[in-house]
Amino acid sequence: MQTHYERLGGGDVIRKLVDRFYDLMDEDPDYYGESRNKLFWFLSGWTGGPPEYIDRFGHPFLRRRHMPFAIGEAERDQWMGCMIRAMQDVGVDAAMQQELTAAFFKTADFMRNQPG
Ligand code: HEM
Repeated sequence: MQTHYERLGGGDVIRKLVDRFYDLMDEDPDYYGESRNKLFWFLSGWTGGPPEYIDRFGHPFLRRRHMPFAIGEAERDQWMGCMIRAMQDVGVDAAMQQELTAAFFKTADFMRNQPG
């Protein structure tokens, strides 16, 4: 079975997706810079492509790394909203958008560290 990484079109499309996502996110001043590379490297491995994040930084401990930021339902939904729009804008195919949306949602929901 092909990985999401392969079905997406590899690193080129993931790079586009992350650029588009951060363009949409850039309204939020806390969320730039090196983050683009980190999310690109992370998603490359998370979709079944090269484990570039782990090669550089080791285990991601994502939930722990998000602890400094207050993440409730609103922040989760804002993150999801930008990622869904980014997938649409980059032209990820519809079936894969659904699969990835479900997978992103699980991860984003796991990052919540605020009651609301
Ligand atoms: C739920 C809403 C989320 C919010 C509000 C959020 C916010 C943030 C913020 C503020 C940073 C720090 C950026 C920086 O250091 O410049 C960050 C880092 C990161 N986020 Fe998120 N994030 C969310 C969900 C996610 C999800 C769902 C994923 C993965 C699918 C993810 C993956 C990452 C990665 C890989 C990093 C870099 C970690 C590192 O420092 O090595 N985030 N996030």
